[in-house]
Amino acid sequence: MSEPSPVSRRAGLIRPFIVMDVVARAQELEAQGRDIVHMEIGDPDFPTPSVIVRAAEAAMDAGDTGYTQSLGLPDLREAITAHMKSSYGVAVDAENIVVTQGTSPAMLLLFGSVLDPGDEVVLADPCYPAYPNYVSFLGGAPVSVPVRAEDGFRFRIDEVERAITPRTRVIMVNSPSNPTGGVLGPQDLEALATLAERNGLWLASDEIYHGLQFEGREHTVLEYTDRAFVLNGFSKAYAMTGWRLGYLIAPKQFVRSAEKIQQNFFLCANHFVQVAGTAALLHAQDDVARMRAVYDERRRYLVPALREIGLGVATEPLGAFYVFADARAWGADSVVLAGRLLEEAGVAVGPGIDFGPGGEGFLRLSYATSIERLREGVSRLAEWAAARP
Ligand SMILES: Cc1ncc(COP(=O)(O)O)c(C=O)c1O
Repeated sequence: MSEPSPVSRRAGLIRPFIVMDVVARAQELEAQGRDIVHMEIGDPDFPTPSVIVRAAEAAMDAGDTGYTQSLGLPDLREAITAHMKSSYGVAVDAENIVVTQGTSPAMLLLFGSVLDPGDEVVLADPCYPAYPNYVSFLGGAPVSVPVRAEDGFRFRIDEVERAITPRTRVIMVNSPSNPTGGVLGPQDLEALATLAERNGLWLASDEIYHGLQFEGREHTVLEYTDRAFVLNGFSKAYAMTGWRLGYLIAPKQFVRSAEKIQQNFFLCANHFVQVAGTAALLHAQDDVARMRAVYDERRRYLVPALREIGLGVATEPLGAFYVFADARAWGADSVVLAGRLLEEAGVAVGPGIDFGPGGEGFLRLSYATSIERLREGVSRLAEWAAARP
């Protein structure tokens, strides 16, 4: 008789991130001498801008290597306040900001502060997989609302409304979105804010891809409601994934609970990284614009190129650095298809099912890689598609 699993039921609720298996297999193939085009990972291919690196070096030299306040350095929290004012015209009190080691821990602070067992969180399907995993892990219940390619992967507000029950506590948005590159416009955000207010819910907005929106001005949910949490981080726009820095902007009544979670589980974000983050906000906006322009150039190449080889891109992705392409013409099972493309074409992509059942039949292609490699990837995919029986 086989032994029951020693792993906790809570840990058992977390779904694996299959794209990491793609990464592992790609590395194995590379170790055997195969050349692989990497379009699977959401990690900027740019080095962190030097103005940020220099600030970290100076901070380390100055001895900024110990703990800081759990809420984060006052200078950084002030810089975030100034950033919210100059970018969106929104007044955020530095007291409402908790600095974290990336946007990921900010999700724990958010959902840990808001959810009781059985409380529901409305999420897009497909969405960034950490959201439902955090919600389930904390005893909450993720509730999916479909978003569709033909709508630019934006919510249909009436469907969000229908998903609300007496147990709903949070509506989660992510614009620009991973995996879809979809962007919610001011009207979408306003309608969701109204819905949240009318139903006594909280709107939570993951704004980590702000700075990487290619058309129109970016909007924070805080322009539309105070019943909102903002999660953000430096990983994407500033090319700082490995530095681990982010923040949560929380309504006043949740700041102390978020602080307590931070104090106990993480203590604080790294001191010199917080100094570097302050420099990023104050001095790296030109670098962000430069990187955004390069991503945009890649996007303009990639979207028509993918359409030409038979992948479906119903609406232009407007932000982040992903194309979420309908690959059903090549195969209905996205894991099987991603596996074949890796083994047979030498191109690593993310299977859409990673992002929820609504992502099945799709592939996520990241253009956080050089245009030369993108061209090589597309040419291999074209060859593979043409040779398919
Ligand atoms: C939508 C979204 N939120 C959060 C994260 C995690 O960000 P961080 O590196 O700040 O923890 C990612 C990373 O891919 C993401 O795509």
